[in-house]
Amino acid sequence: MQFEEETRNGISCTEEVLRSVPQFLAKKCAECVVPHGMKKSTIITQSDMETRSIAEEFARELCGETNACRVVSLEGELGAGKTTFMQGVGKGLGIRQQMTSPTFIIFRVFDLTKCVYKRLYHFDLYRLKSYEDLKTLEFEDIIADPKNLVIIEWGDMIREHLPKNYIQIKLEGLLKNVREITIMYNPKFKNQNSKLQRKTEK
Ligand SMILES: Nc1ncnc2c1ncn2[C@@H]1O[C@H](COP(=O)(O)OP(=O)(O)OP(=O)(O)O)[C@@H](O)[C@H]1O
Ligand SMILES: [Mg+2]
Repeated sequence: MQFEEETRNGISCTEEVLRSVPQFLAKKCAECVVPHGMKKSTIITQSDMETRSIAEEFARELCGETNACRVVSLEGELGAGKTTFMQGVGKGLGIRQQMTSPTFIIFRVFDLTKCVYKRLYHFDLYRLKSYEDLKTLEFEDIIADPKNLVIIEWGDMIREHLPKNYIQIKLEGLLKNVREITIMYNPKFKNQNSKLQRKTEK
């Protein structure tokens, strides 16, 4: 099915993109640019609280409806704010425990009760030695399961193993308390499970 193109603030976003990505990202489509076929939006935060709050909103939107985008790569240097972002995600998903980096254990899993997904997997690959080690933790089964939401700190270390429709979130420190958060996703996937998608195909 061919979707109409829509123009928002002079930038063209295909309707497919607007339907198949979480609302949070679609709203940002006004700021989209398209490097290498990816859609991109950028947000500047000026405190850790602000980053948590952006992450909370992001997580709520991601969790509102089953979506093909359910693997997220969180990228950025040491201290960029990846775990701070995860703390906001945890709050947005109704997780009571404080999120900390699972640096030495590689991942933690949380049951989700207020979300269309059943579990959140939080990975931190900083100390990962090889992709083979990750495979022994059943990583491939974990990301293949549509009931799982998977967020991976240092996901860029295994970029070639991520699904094509992963969401890439890059954090970059500009000043002491200022971070640039760039969210990118590949618009070329179709969300087979989305209620919206099913409706539009009738
Ligand atoms: N705008 C901001 N957004 C996020 N964190 C900020 C911001 N301003 C200051 N900070 C501080 O920067 C630090 C970010 O640390 P955090 O552990 O989240 O980084 P990280 O990317 O997970 O690092 P690592 O790779 O070492 O685990 C925290 O101390 C946080 O309070
Ligand atoms: Mg961290």
